[in-house]
Amino acid sequence: MAVELSRDPYVPTTGTLPAHASLEEALAWVERQRQRHSEGTGFSFAIADTGTSRCVGQMGLWTRELTKGRAQAGYAVIPRERGRRIAARALLALLKFAWTIPELHRVELYIEPWNAASVRTADRAGFQREGLLRSHQEIAGVRRDMLLYATIRDRAV
Ligand SMILES: CC(C)(COP(=O)(O)OP(=O)(O)OC[C@H]1O[C@@H](n2cnc3c(N)ncnc32)[C@H](O)[C@@H]1OP(=O)(O)O)[C@@H](O)C(=O)NCCC(=O)NCCS
Repeated sequence: MAVELSRDPYVPTTGTLPAHASLEEALAWVERQRQRHSEGTGFSFAIADTGTSRCVGQMGLWTRELTKGRAQAGYAVIPRERGRRIAARALLALLKFAWTIPELHRVELYIEPWNAASVRTADRAGFQREGLLRSHQEIAGVRRDMLLYATIRDRAV
């Protein structure tokens, strides 16, 4: 899964997975995901197909702002498994887990405006668009605008 994700043109620009990762680099990335919980920065999950148990993507709940009641989510599905709304279903599963954390009141998504698949994923999982954050962060050496989406505990299903 990690090797395939690393061949996506966008995914490696947003995290620590190297582009066109070797098996060793991909395994090192998986190992870094396993450290997220113990280092207190969040929870990194594999998305699995319940029919085949094959790993088809990755999803994270990042908790650096947990003391303020907030967390951010992120997700990616390997290119050949896209088109089945997997991310939206995985995001709803992630929220069920997220609301078991008593301190958490708000889960946010930061999405580039061109990223229609991610916007649809956010909509389908019940997130609301709260605004456009102009020049919010640098990705691949370029300042990027980000749509802010969020869902809050009271709206949890
Ligand atoms: C975002 C991502 C996880 C979604 O994967 P997925 O669950 O397979 O999503 P799908 O391909 O089923 O698409 C979801 C929706 O977006 C729509 N969509 C997909 N690509 C689209 C495009 N280029 N233009 C318009 N709509 C598009 C689909 O039609 C679908 O809409 P629907 O729910 O109304 O039917 C996947 O595209 C991905 O991994 N992208 C790279 C990583 C990334 O961008 N992560 C999010 C960062 S914020």
